[in-house]
Amino acid sequence: MAGTDRDEAGSTADPVIEVRDASVRYGQVRALTAATLSVGPGRICALVGMNGSGKSTLMKVMLGLVRTHPGRVLINGAPPSSARRRGLIAYVPQREDVDWSFPTTVREVVMTGRYAHLGPTRRARTRDHRIVDEALGRVDLTELAGRQIGRLSGGQRKRAFVARAIAQQAEVLLLDEPFAGVDDLSQRTVSRLLRSLADDGATIVIATHDLPALPSLADEAALLAGTVVMHDSVHQVIRPENLARAFGLGE
Ligand SMILES: Nc1ncnc2c1ncn2[C@@H]1O[C@H](COP(=O)(O)OP(=O)(O)OP(=O)(O)O)[C@@H](O)[C@H]1O
Ligand SMILES: [Mg+2]
Repeated sequence: MAGTDRDEAGSTADPVIEVRDASVRYGQVRALTAATLSVGPGRICALVGMNGSGKSTLMKVMLGLVRTHPGRVLINGAPPSSARRRGLIAYVPQREDVDWSFPTTVREVVMTGRYAHLGPTRRARTRDHRIVDEALGRVDLTELAGRQIGRLSGGQRKRAFVARAIAQQAEVLLLDEPFAGVDDLSQRTVSRLLRSLADDGATIVIATHDLPALPSLADEAALLAGTVVMHDSVHQVIRPENLARAFGLGE
């Protein structure tokens, strides 16, 4: 059975995220070719590679936001669209497509993470407010909770969207460069937070350019260069001869 195969990163559990032979084109641009990647429960997998190597596209494949042809994508054994509908996947995009002048507070943005859990009335209950407060505290934004989202710095905005993902209490978290523009202290806070979520069973994928932070951030890493070139433990992937394969550096 495919799920019991030991993959390159050494996991034997049934994968939570399974992408097999995914190819994606944007018009004439071939963004991914036959990309295969499985991530097991409670694991943190980093996606690394140069600009344009396909990291964001692979995340969109996992979310079912772009079509793969051919290929297969399963989240907990089901198509990503159904996992998304049930609120099982939280996503922090690389660039938030929001109207920054819209008068929404940080707290309201984080509350949108609770939407899949609210009933048809969309009315937040005490528990939802508590979860939102906790998420704000965990990214150190409690004091800015009432501020309009457009009036935050870039790094604070990133943290607000990480808080929204946390408040969602999803089984799968996909974070596309969550640390871009985030200071070192906040990055360490968020990294610790992600680790504790993984210890509680969440499966996490993070696209990042921060290679030095990888050993403290992730368990395993996938090297991308238009496909998944390599998927192994962080320590294997960051060996210079392996990075050279994806980053085109001289060995
Ligand atoms: N909407 C789009 N239309 C056309 N081409 C696209 C689109 N989005 C991405 N691409 C192309 O697909 C390829 C993969 O892009 P992708 O955004 O997945 O890379 P990435 O690894 O996330 O890069 P970065 O490190 O810059 O975020 C690139 O060649 C990119 O130019
Ligand atoms: Mg990207």
